[in-house]
Amino acid sequence: MNSKWKGKSLISLNDLAEEEFGQIFELSATLKSKLKKGIPHRMLEGKTLGMIFSKPSTRTRISFEVGIYQLGGIGMFFNQNDLQLKKSENIADTAKVLSRFLDGIMIRTFDHQDVIDLAKSASIPIINGLTDLMHPCQVLADLFTILEKKKTLKGLKLAFVGDGNNMAHSLLHGCAKVGMDISVASPVGFHPNEQIVHETMETAKSTGSKIEILVDPIKAVKDADVVYTDVWASMGQESESSKRKKIFKPYQVNENLIKHAKSDYLFMHCLPAHRGDEVVNEVADSSNSVIFDEAENRLHVQKAIMALVM
Ligand code: CP
Ligand code: NVA
Repeated sequence: MNSKWKGKSLISLNDLAEEEFGQIFELSATLKSKLKKGIPHRMLEGKTLGMIFSKPSTRTRISFEVGIYQLGGIGMFFNQNDLQLKKSENIADTAKVLSRFLDGIMIRTFDHQDVIDLAKSASIPIINGLTDLMHPCQVLADLFTILEKKKTLKGLKLAFVGDGNNMAHSLLHGCAKVGMDISVASPVGFHPNEQIVHETMETAKSTGSKIEILVDPIKAVKDADVVYTDVWASMGQESESSKRKKIFKPYQVNENLIKHAKSDYLFMHCLPAHRGDEVVNEVADSSNSVIFDEAENRLHVQKAIMALVM
């Protein structure tokens, strides 16, 4: 294994070099094929991954736990509320203590800065399993899925329709790094974070990606190879749900909107989906939809990440 990966944290896709995406995808494909053929690949024999969650999860928790087990290690789940973390113990002390027990930590929490702070004081790799700002593991699995289906990434156009949220942010970072074009359409007041858009534009200067931040969903979806959406109210925003339903209605991915994409478009969603809100069943269950392939690829891609950094 390439030693430059060992001990590295994965917090933002903006921290990865373009060729590192390729290295992750190559190992993901190898591990996926070994699993399908029943070939053992116990690259993390005896290692322990701690998994800290302060938000619910189906895919992230289960794919990391199954993934570390298949690699010969063990995963330990911690509900953040059960830890002393941020109650009677600060993040730095927690990071130092956990570094004495564990070989890596995957964390899902609210404040992105907490993950940065954890990594600063830990001597083991920290993997971001979603913050209010980013969801890098999901986007690595998504890009790997696009690569599997389309055989290339460079020059493809991805349209993200909906809230300028953590998914939009990691898609912006990720698409720019791999040379994909990305158009994000959101209602006024719900556009992606300006700093992230700036970082994306900077990356695009060297990779040649075209970046568009729009209001019009039809313009975003026009001739797109991939159409992506996500919930209108993310975890922690549940109280805004009914207000957002009205604002985001024109951003629903339905047959009227999707007809503007290329005929061989892929429909993607990180899931969980609120069917009937951001996407209708006719699109989510169509033959263009790859939502369950994306979910499966969380397992293969995260195994590659763990095998590289732990
Ligand atoms: N896509 C995703 O991260 O799903 P979970 O919230 O179920 O982990
Ligand atoms: N934007 C969603 C993604 C869930 C995987 C959320 O943060 O709730």
